[in-house]
Amino acid sequence: MLSNLQPQAPDKILMLIEEFKADTRQGKIDLGVGVYKDPQGVTPVMRAVKAAEQRIWETQTTKAYTGLAGEADYRNAMAQMVLADVPADRLASVASVGGTGAIRQALELARLANPDVRVFVSDPTWPNHLSIMKFMGLPFTEYRYFDSETRGVDFDGMKADIAQAGRGDIVLLHGCCHNPTGANLTLDQWSEVVAIFEKSGAIPLIDLAYQGFGDGLDADAEATRLVARSLPEVLIAASCSKNFGIYRERTGILMALAENSAARDLAQGSMAYLNRQNFSFPPDHGARVVSTILTDSALRADWAAELEEVRNTMLGLRDQLASELRDLSGSDRFDFIARHRGMFSRLGATPEQVQKLKTDAAIYMVGDSRLNIAGLNRDTVPVLARAIIDAGI
Ligand code: LMR
Repeated sequence: MLSNLQPQAPDKILMLIEEFKADTRQGKIDLGVGVYKDPQGVTPVMRAVKAAEQRIWETQTTKAYTGLAGEADYRNAMAQMVLADVPADRLASVASVGGTGAIRQALELARLANPDVRVFVSDPTWPNHLSIMKFMGLPFTEYRYFDSETRGVDFDGMKADIAQAGRGDIVLLHGCCHNPTGANLTLDQWSEVVAIFEKSGAIPLIDLAYQGFGDGLDADAEATRLVARSLPEVLIAASCSKNFGIYRERTGILMALAENSAARDLAQGSMAYLNRQNFSFPPDHGARVVSTILTDSALRADWAAELEEVRNTMLGLRDQLASELRDLSGSDRFDFIARHRGMFSRLGATPEQVQKLKTDAAIYMVGDSRLNIAGLNRDTVPVLARAIIDAGI
């Protein structure tokens, strides 16, 4: 039986990790997978995470199963962090296996509620969004998003395309720090997007994987909060991988805002059912670390301060790279790098130029020219800038 299996195309982002490891050149630079690295190239365990883990180790008396939906403390703390004003009577939530697991459960939930659901995704989007939908056999279409001339958002194209989504369809939106482009909507533009949903009855699914990496913990949630305040039904898939630096703990949450409390109860039951079908109980360790931090004022303050350091480090690298490129190119055509937010920017280079960066300069980025800003440090920024110019970008 197993010999009947077809080879699977490797994930492009994960493949880069292996390619980078195998490269023996000194001074190679990894701008591939979206993992934060400090200026020493280390992905640190955050101070508050260590402290919370110690506290859990000292006080935890059992490893018996948690609830199917995960612990209420975690879900409440996350709802508070994401939404600030939580409409508890309308909110269903389950802990999930990372943000990716939340996306998968959200799509499963949408299909349970509407077997004919269509999903609208930004062009481009995180490749795994597409891969999961293909695997599930969910029909999807892309809406215009990235303007390759300005490296900003093609907002008119986006509005026209998402207006095609009808009642019962899903529109997948990046709540902040768009992956892979780094180009984001303004709050005013989000208001216009909300007006389109009000008219069409389509349901937003917000992927919030980078809260705290763009303009700040609250600022990055503003768009999600606006959508949640305005519309009767909203799905939100949030990840703790990046903002708590607990990538391998697989800590995420799916939240569903329902029209009323009866629909909320139905959603809660279906979401717990989906957990049970897919993996039974959600992982608990990361969730417990997160709730320990968020419910303790000292730990929370320390975590928020460290997250701000991470965010400001990335902003500093953006400014430095834009400025180096301004000097080397004698133009402002790379200034978009300073305007983009989050871990990623799409450079707008051709696949051949991306390959040239790899071959000539041992610089690794995703084939669509997405670069992870956090893979840089103050010393490697000039190296990258020079290589970008040399590759003719
Ligand atoms: C990324 O986009 O690089 C991250 O979200 C990691 C991943 O799983 O692809």
